[in-house]
Amino acid sequence: MNIFRLMEISAAQATRCTVEATVASGLESVPASEFKNAFLAEHCTSRGRVFANVLSSQIPEVLQMRSVDNLSLVAEVTKDITFSTADKEQDLKKLEKLAYAIHWDKTLLLWKKSTDFHGILYPTRDQYVASLAVEKELKSKLKSSLQESVSEIDNDQNMEKEHEVQEESQSLNNNICREKKAANILLYNQLDSRKLSEKVLKFRVTCYHTGSHAFGSQEAATAFGGTLQDIFNWVVDLTYYDLEIVLNIKEDFVYVTVPLTKESLHRRSITYFGPTTLRSTICYGMLTIASPEVGDIIIDPLCGGGSIPIEGALSFPGSLFLSGDIHPKAIERTKLNINELTAKHVSNIDVFNWDAQKLPLKDSCIDLCVTDLPFGKRMGSKKNNSTLYVRLLFELSRVMKTSGRAVFLTYDKGNFVRAVSTIHGLFKMIRILTVNIGGLAARLYVIQRTAKEYQQSLPLEVKKRRKKKNKLEK
Ligand SMILES: C[S@@+](CC[C@H](N)C(=O)[O-])C[C@H]1O[C@@H](n2cnc3c(N)ncnc32)[C@H](O)[C@@H]1O
Repeated sequence: MNIFRLMEISAAQATRCTVEATVASGLESVPASEFKNAFLAEHCTSRGRVFANVLSSQIPEVLQMRSVDNLSLVAEVTKDITFSTADKEQDLKKLEKLAYAIHWDKTLLLWKKSTDFHGILYPTRDQYVASLAVEKELKSKLKSSLQESVSEIDNDQNMEKEHEVQEESQSLNNNICREKKAANILLYNQLDSRKLSEKVLKFRVTCYHTGSHAFGSQEAATAFGGTLQDIFNWVVDLTYYDLEIVLNIKEDFVYVTVPLTKESLHRRSITYFGPTTLRSTICYGMLTIASPEVGDIIIDPLCGGGSIPIEGALSFPGSLFLSGDIHPKAIERTKLNINELTAKHVSNIDVFNWDAQKLPLKDSCIDLCVTDLPFGKRMGSKKNNSTLYVRLLFELSRVMKTSGRAVFLTYDKGNFVRAVSTIHGLFKMIRILTVNIGGLAARLYVIQRTAKEYQQSLPLEVKKRRKKKNKLEK
């Protein structure tokens, strides 16, 4: 199955549509098997995305998938456009022609239904002109209400690119920017006294392109968007838009999508973010790979702000999640995040201030371990990891049941592989995946506790190394 075939099939059926789900690359198999098993949907995958044909009536459920970052409707996929490398005008004309050629109705009506848009989807020219005047007035009202410069209101990208600051305050800044942007949108809508049904649709076009072309992304977006404006009489608004249309230009094909999510779904279960907060969709992928069963006790011994156990408690209510961290600030953040869940009646999670190398747990009581180790980049150092990883695995070999599985995420591949071989025989490696974490090719290691008995002291090699180090220090 490929995306072209999927589109052919969905185009022939009024009740079906093709969706694009994005996910951290390396974890595509997680939503792919959900599409197959839960939605009985034909699908195909490419790097960081899964395309699937679902029933239009399934969209609300698809939007609840815990493995998916963003979900879009696919409006068009075509191989028929060949771009020159020199003639920019000609190439942009081809994109304008594409905007006219797409059968928009099915996608737009489904978008309207899925996002609960109550405004005017197909305005007349007069409605468009009247709307332009109202929007202009609203922008100036907003400007004076906020008493801020227009550039600060309009250019949200500037807000995201706050100056270089330390990790902790940078994530705080990002949170503040996001909240500020949401507050501005709210205020903008409050200033607008029109009924929802009187508002003309506002839109923007975003273009992502790979390969070398005579035009840039912005030029392509402007050409495509300008044509859509001519066709539909929609108002262009880069910030306060209702509808976004994404033009994806790949080396050998072009596809157009309409996002159903304005903000990535990975943010939905965490309120207080920290410097290394892991996306809840990646946490879900790791947990799914660990494959919890009802009654399992699952540990995250280095939980940071609690993203893995919180995702686990929400997605696997039949299991119990024990989490902990050595850093009191991390515990505080986890507690705050857990408190935010009270409305969801989550009671299968607890958090402790502990040293993962010396867990306050009895032998052989844990079924699964799912954790995100310090990479030795933003958090910790490779030098610390060389001992932390060994001691952690050794302690886990004590508290985990025979055949228990552990899923670790790390970028420090050398230290992890060395640690597994150092405690030789207590765990066996069963799967390795490469996962993109913020541009880093990190690894997911799945290891399994063997039947070998836990020894009371660290294996010989580590002891020897430590002795040698002590000698040198003297
Ligand atoms: C990569 S972060 C975990 C981030 C977490 N998954 C999140 O989304 O917030 C690694 C965590 O390991 C913790 N840590 C480092 N050494 C530890 C130890 N010996 N015992 C317990 N926690 C430790 C750090 O404080 C840090 O919070």
